[in-house]
Parts: sequence; structure tokens; C-alpha cells
Amino acid sequence: ISSLLLVTGCGNSEKSGSEEKEKTLRVVTDAEYPPFEFRDKGKLVGFDVDFIAAVAKEAGYKSEVEHVAWEPLFEEIKSKRADAAVSAVTINDERKQTYDFSFPYFISTNKILVPKDSAIKSAEDLKGKKVAVQTGTTGQAATESIVGKNNENIKQFENNNLAILELKSGGADAVVADNAVVEEYAKNNPDEGFTVVEDAVFEKEYYGVLFPKDSKLIEEFNKAINTLYENGTYAKIYKEWFGT
Ligand code: ARG
Repeated sequence: ISSLLLVTGCGNSEKSGSEEKEKTLRVVTDAEYPPFEFRDKGKLVGFDVDFIAAVAKEAGYKSEVEHVAWEPLFEEIKSKRADAAVSAVTINDERKQTYDFSFPYFISTNKILVPKDSAIKSAEDLKGKKVAVQTGTTGQAATESIVGKNNENIKQFENNNLAILELKSGGADAVVADNAVVEEYAKNNPDEGFTVVEDAVFEKEYYGVLFPKDSKLIEEFNKAINTLYENGTYAKIYKEWFGT
């Protein structure tokens, strides 16, 4: 709140401050990525959804998260039609050329999801196998780093649930996606007989909230994120979704 008052200046700060705070931020996502963002009986839920609500509130804003899908969410931010995106988006140099990010809020890495009896035991074993990935993700990039770009064995999907469906139907031998997502999937669907390849190690990644370049919100959100780390709110939300 004090940062908002600082930004809006003194004098009428009380009034302009509260007007600003009424503003509802439009936050976009790809709600096909449990446990980060997904729909439960039509309601948008997940770690990211709770996280961004807490951050926005701490920064003095109302916020609404809207599903627009993965590639569209980048367009929404680039064109500034949305104020922010929260979608397990990995901070990387390529994206930083076009967008800005908040402080990192989650550590991640890619992992390989396979049937339990799969011959894939390492990242190298992906060579010559059909791999389903979500288009434009670091999972696609991680797969390409092993099997090469434009490899015909990489099957691209608009969202990660479709990639997993391809694995289930036998059209792919593996899915490469963020560890928490594939681990949850294997754990929550024990009858399907999938597991995560423990020995396949990819680069460490950090998620950030995505903003249009030079958004005024970044500083306020970063401050709020620090507060949530310090006051235990982040840990509480983390525990709700990941149990530890
Ligand atoms: N962390 C990965 C990336 O940034 C995958 C994120 C996919 N998120 C989603 N909601 N589908 O590329």
C-alpha cells in the first residue's frame, strides 16, 4: 500500500491511492497444467492461481485469472491486453528479450514421463523415441537439446494434457514437461502405470510472473512477493498444493 501511495505521489495520495487499488488486473494463463493452473468443475484453481491472488492483494490490487491458452497468453502480454500472466512460465533469456519477469517464485526442471516398463532410463534414451511436448515450452527445448530441432519424432501439442493423452493412447513413448506436473500426474493416476525417469536430468529453471516490457507493476509485485516469502503466506500456499 505504501508503495502505491509513493507511486501516486502525495497531496491527494489517499484518494488516488484507493482509486488505483480498485483496479482489477487481468491475469492470463493456460489452465491445462495441474497442479499450477487447471479447471475444477469450471473453476480456475491451482498453485499459481492462489499465488497470484495473494501477490496482487498484497500489492493492493484485485485480480482475475483468465484461461487463454499457452501461445495466446504471450500475445496478450505483448499487446498489453493483459496486465500479467501466471502460467508456470520459465524465466529465460529468449523471453526476456520481449517480456519482463517478476522475481523467481518457483524452482523447476524438465522430467520425462513414461510407462513403467519403458526402456527410456535417461535423457539420451529419448533418441529415436516419439516424444510428446507442449509447443513452445522449455520441455520442447529440452527434448530438442537431446534429439535435435525439427526432429520428426517430436510430437507437438497445444497443451500438456493433450501431450499426456498421446502418451496414454500409445502415440508417444514419453512426455517431457515440468517435474511437478509429471510427478503429480504419475502419482494421481496410479492405475495408468506411468512413472518419471529419475535419472534424466535437465537444466534448473525458475518460474516468474510474466509482464509486458517495463510494466509499472513489476516493482510492486516484487515487493509483494518478498513480503509473502517473509510472512509465511508463500509457504502456506506451497504446502496446500505440494504438501510439504
Ligand atoms: N515451464 C515451462 C515453460 O515455461 C512450461 C510451462 C507450461 N505452462 C502451462 N501452463 N502450460 O516453457
